[in-house]
Amino acid sequence: MGTGGDEREGTTRSTQGGQDLPVNDLPVDDRPWGGRMEQAEAFDAIGDRYDEAFPHKEGQVAAAEWLAGAVPPGSRVLDLGCGTGLPTARQLVDAGLQVVGVDLSGGMLARAAAHVPEAQFLQADIADLPAGEPLLPGSFSGVAAFFSLLMLRRSEIPDTLRAVHGLLEPGGLLALSMVEADVDDVPIPFLGNTIRVSGYLRDELRQVVTDAGFEVIEEDAYAYAPATSDVPPELQVFLRCRRG
Ligand SMILES: C[S@@+](CC[C@H](N)C(=O)[O-])C[C@H]1O[C@@H](n2cnc3c(N)ncnc32)[C@H](O)[C@@H]1O
Repeated sequence: MGTGGDEREGTTRSTQGGQDLPVNDLPVDDRPWGGRMEQAEAFDAIGDRYDEAFPHKEGQVAAAEWLAGAVPPGSRVLDLGCGTGLPTARQLVDAGLQVVGVDLSGGMLARAAAHVPEAQFLQADIADLPAGEPLLPGSFSGVAAFFSLLMLRRSEIPDTLRAVHGLLEPGGLLALSMVEADVDDVPIPFLGNTIRVSGYLRDELRQVVTDAGFEVIEEDAYAYAPATSDVPPELQVFLRCRRG
């Protein structure tokens, strides 16, 4: 997924002082929609190149397999930041589960709907999930959050995890992956665009997840070399968690 570098690109906006700055250099409160529009536009533009750059997802497939095998047959699972729906939403539907996918990017959701027509998709910010159908409290047996929480600012991640906790039934499961990196809301060049990412070293990640009310059952890490020189090699951490 990539968390290195600090190349600045993108559109500019005028600050109150009349200075033109790249959107990604603005203080977070001055960024239009808190910077969310830029994240969505970047993923709209990235489109299929995301799957091309990250073709081998052994860790993710194994984590989704665990989730699919551990929740009750036919139960509801949420794919948070579902991207193109591949491989995860597809894999969960093929395992007989009812899948709801959420993503900010309309372009990603259009691909997901084409790849996984059996699933239900919703355009929303995972840091501000809309209350009510299909996201009713306690209505999911499992949640997959693969490389999506890292798209948030660190200050948003604990509340987002608590919201996920609230969506899960008691004993519900969370499969989570992040890139290991000690960064908060840094702009990085990513497949010809700029996205902002956050991360933790793994002890801190485990703590943040535990503090949100989850028990970490198991942890894996994979060294991952994307199939493009645009994104540097990374260390991916997968946590298998249970709602406490
Ligand atoms: C790195 S991709 C991961 C996609 C997929 N989970 C996977 O691992 O194949 C991150 C996804 O999160 C989405 N995203 C970024 N910020 C988001 C936000 N605030 N709310 C919802 N989705 C977001 C992006 O559009 C993108 O599809």
